[in-house]
Amino acid sequence: MLADSEPWKRLGYTAADWARLFDAIPQGRDAFIIETNGAVAGLALIRPRFLMGDYLELLAIAPAARGKGLGGTLLNYLEGLVFARAKNLFVCVSDFNQEARRFYRRHGYQKIGPIPNLLIPGSAEILMRKTMGPARGPRNA
Ligand SMILES: CC(C)(COP(=O)(O)OP(=O)(O)OC[C@H]1O[C@@H](n2cnc3c(N)ncnc32)[C@H](O)[C@@H]1OP(=O)(O)O)[C@@H](O)C(=O)NCCC(=O)NCCS
Repeated sequence: MLADSEPWKRLGYTAADWARLFDAIPQGRDAFIIETNGAVAGLALIRPRFLMGDYLELLAIAPAARGKGLGGTLLNYLEGLVFARAKNLFVCVSDFNQEARRFYRRHGYQKIGPIPNLLIPGSAEILMRKTMGPARGPRNA
């Protein structure tokens, strides 16, 4: 599913890269799948404890299953877990990945800024953030 999927093909990820990531259960991340009719339709990895929040390291819906609300359903579920314990959820999205940028904007993510040449030359990863507010309250007088 991932090896055949944009944006990762353009970013140079191959089946071997995905095998390396998933052959052993990814350490230090929480992993989730979403199923339809008993088949895996998408997956997500969250890396906890990043900049006063969590980092959504991977969110992918199978190409044939996109645009049917599954990504939104999975993201809403993840946010329920994350915002019960932290104030921020961060994600990176490639500058050329207009669909995903719109998807995150619609879900309330704001652009923090571009990280140029992070994965491939000439392209930036855009760091985005959804927040429930400051991590610490105002100091007592
Ligand atoms: C980005 C991604 C996770 C979104 O998942 P998805 O299942 O397509 O998302 P949804 O169906 O919930 O929403 C996508 C669009 O479909 C529309 N939609 C939602 N429910 C729908 C439904 N029941 N029927 C038809 N369209 C629907 C929404 O309006 C939404 O539009 P928007 O993009 O303007 O917000 C998915 O496209 C994907 O895996 N892309 C490749 C990987 C990637 O870019 N990941 C993110 C970067 S890490």
